Amino acid sequence: MVIRPPVTAEIFRLQEIERAAAELFRDTGLIDIDGMAMVSLTDHMASIEAGLSLVCEVDRRIAGFAMGEWQEGGAYLHELDVDPAFQKRGVGAALVRAFIETARAQGAGDIYLATFRAPPWNAPFYRKLGFCDVPHSDYLPWMTALEESQASFLDLSTRVFMKLGPDVS
Ligand SMILES: CC(C)(COP(=O)(O)OP(=O)(O)OC[C@H]1O[C@@H](n2cnc3c(N)ncnc32)[C@H](O)[C@@H]1OP(=O)(O)O)[C@@H](O)C(=O)NCCC(=O)NCCS
Repeated sequence: MVIRPPVTAEIFRLQEIERAAAELFRDTGLIDIDGMAMVSLTDHMASIEAGLSLVCEVDRRIAGFAMGEWQEGGAYLHELDVDPAFQKRGVGAALVRAFIETARAQGAGDIYLATFRAPPWNAPFYRKLGFCDVPHSDYLPWMTALEESQASFLDLSTRVFMKLGPDVS
């Protein structure tokens, strides 16, 4: 398993992985899989530029990726996906750990993400990696803005913001 930053030409592979990984939600009723928008080329390029994009190679094939952006308070893990052919082999957990390490090496305090509460591969998966739920009363302005921008296509009661504080490894 090799974790490294992607190059621009690999973004199409990342979009292919995102599309394939979303199938895990097909029967959950949480996402409109066929209508969902993927992370754009521009957002991937900005993430690479920000030093917050990572891919995991297994047998020389990109098996998954983590990408994020800088926000007030720290780094935000925007998207994490593992190709179904490579899931449940530790790739996702390795990418999250590498994202935390990479963000901290660049000075991040807290690491944030937003996910679904219930599926075992969402909030429970991140809890095992040390993340805690952020109560609504502790939302930073960008979190409220992000949720508002998602309200038209996500049921916000199914969502949770999570945070890994600076003293958790
Ligand atoms: C979330 C995701 C990236 C996890 O990737 P992965 O490589 O399969 O995860 P790992 O193999 O590192 O698993 C880590 C832990 O989560 C658990 N887990 C992962 N997928 C699971 C699943 N589908 N059902 C139940 N548990 C699961 C594993 O059992 C493991 O637990 P353990 O440490 O107690 O053994 C992957 O399921 C995915 O791409 N999902 C679709 C997109 C998504 O939900 N992204 C996150 C959005 S915030």
